[in-house]
Amino acid sequence: MSITQLLLSYLDVPTVLVFLIIFLFLVAQRKPHRYPPGPWRWPLIGNLPIVAGAKMLAKEFMRISQKYGPVFSLRLGVLNMVIINGYDAIHEAFSEKAELFIGRPHDVIYFVKKAIGKKGLILNEGPSWYDLRKMIAVALRDFGVGKKTLEERILDECQAIFEVLDSLPKAQPIQSVNLKRTLMSAVSNIICSITFGDRFQYTDKQFVKLLDSLARFFRTNALALPENAFPILRFILPSSQGEDMIRIQNDIRDFVREQVEKHKETFDPDNIRDIVDLYLQVSDNEKRQTKAFSNESMVRAIVDLFSAGTETTSLSTTWAILFLVCYPEIQRELHKEIMQVIGNGRRPSLQDKPHLPYVQAFISEMMRVVNVASITVPHVTQDKVELCGYVIPKRTVCTANIYSVHMDPKEWPQPEEFRPERWINKAGEFYKPSKAFLPFSLGPRACLGEQLARIEFFLFLTSMIQQYEFSAPIGAKLPRPFPERAGITTTPPDYELYIKKRE
Ligand code: HEM
Repeated sequence: MSITQLLLSYLDVPTVLVFLIIFLFLVAQRKPHRYPPGPWRWPLIGNLPIVAGAKMLAKEFMRISQKYGPVFSLRLGVLNMVIINGYDAIHEAFSEKAELFIGRPHDVIYFVKKAIGKKGLILNEGPSWYDLRKMIAVALRDFGVGKKTLEERILDECQAIFEVLDSLPKAQPIQSVNLKRTLMSAVSNIICSITFGDRFQYTDKQFVKLLDSLARFFRTNALALPENAFPILRFILPSSQGEDMIRIQNDIRDFVREQVEKHKETFDPDNIRDIVDLYLQVSDNEKRQTKAFSNESMVRAIVDLFSAGTETTSLSTTWAILFLVCYPEIQRELHKEIMQVIGNGRRPSLQDKPHLPYVQAFISEMMRVVNVASITVPHVTQDKVELCGYVIPKRTVCTANIYSVHMDPKEWPQPEEFRPERWINKAGEFYKPSKAFLPFSLGPRACLGEQLARIEFFLFLTSMIQQYEFSAPIGAKLPRPFPERAGITTTPPDYELYIKKRE
């Protein structure tokens, strides 16, 4: 009997299966040389159970990094990911080695490929992203578009919020979800007015439906979509969350297209009213039919502004109101400062900001604690790159854990405590006590709407505290005002509150 025959005589089906399973387990653990370490992986699915089972990914990532260090790797089916934790590692990647981490996963993550592709602002890369970002950044900074200043637009929108709040029944508490919807309409209207020069009634059916869909989109844990790990599942899961997200993106795109088409009918190159006009002017004047300035690219860029700008800022404001309700003594302090500096005879203005250190401290502490965007949009490496001593191959998806920066006890003593005073120095001025504060990320891919978000947030909050008092119903059990659950954004728990107009 030959050796082969002898071996085959021992190989019955169970033995082959055992060997196959051992083989698959060993293959699952294989990593390139000097690749970041990471938790043990299951065959085929890798670390998908960790990601799919997490209520809040950023917290889970922070827990894993305590064992494996600031840079660790995960494998989600066919997708390799590196997670970067803590200020130093994120700074090294997105600032010191920014050019190597500047890409986005339009070709690597299934959902992005299917829903968006290589277009627009958030998930695009290369020259078309760069040209677009430059143009929109200038438009957002100057707000030269249109006749009204940004401040006026925001304060007018505050007035619209007040009309809704004043019409609410006084005798019973309102649900936070209704407050959030009003804030979302207001924030979204500001983007609409900057981009289309128009705003919508909060009761407009198309607008309401769109905002509800957008909120659903942001509640999804996009990294855990099974189709990202196994694209073939799209044939088996036709009504999955991923498909729903794609439908929502298409609905927003159709809405924006409709607005752009309407706009073209009244376009006058000598009267630039908003971002769409600016776009039409640039693409028309310079005959720049490059990828960045095509019609589709403009539509996608506006969808991105609309999506990224609406949910994040309105959620932050809803979180802020929850803190006011949970910490009445802080609310009293904020109101006192606003009365001393502004009084109640005029509307707040951006010029008041430097004179309101406690308001600034409250806003910063709230952003630190709630981490509305707790992990960044995924970046992609442009080449093989070394990070914290590990080697990450070209076109690997890398995400930074912002939560880990804001919850680092070395930077923020008792990080789980909400203490606006940590942002006030001995002279009673607002100051930044640590460099480890990155709510908008950093480097060339940092949030494009940071300035707008900060202005909106300041004016909304100051105006609301000036005009109203927010309180919990007597005896109500208030939720803990810290994020426990996150999709793309961290969602505040539902709560009930009274909103009383101040005398
Ligand atoms: C509280 C409010 C906001 C927070 C916390 C926030 C946070 C972020 C974060 C963390 C990123 C990812 C950066 C990265 O991948 O490294 C981002 C990207 C982005 N944000 Fe915001 N954002 C906010 C509001 C806004 C607003 C109001 C707009 C638009 C008007 C906006 C537009 C964008 C865009 C376009 C990007 C993609 C930038 C690029 O890839 O080049 N964001 N934001």
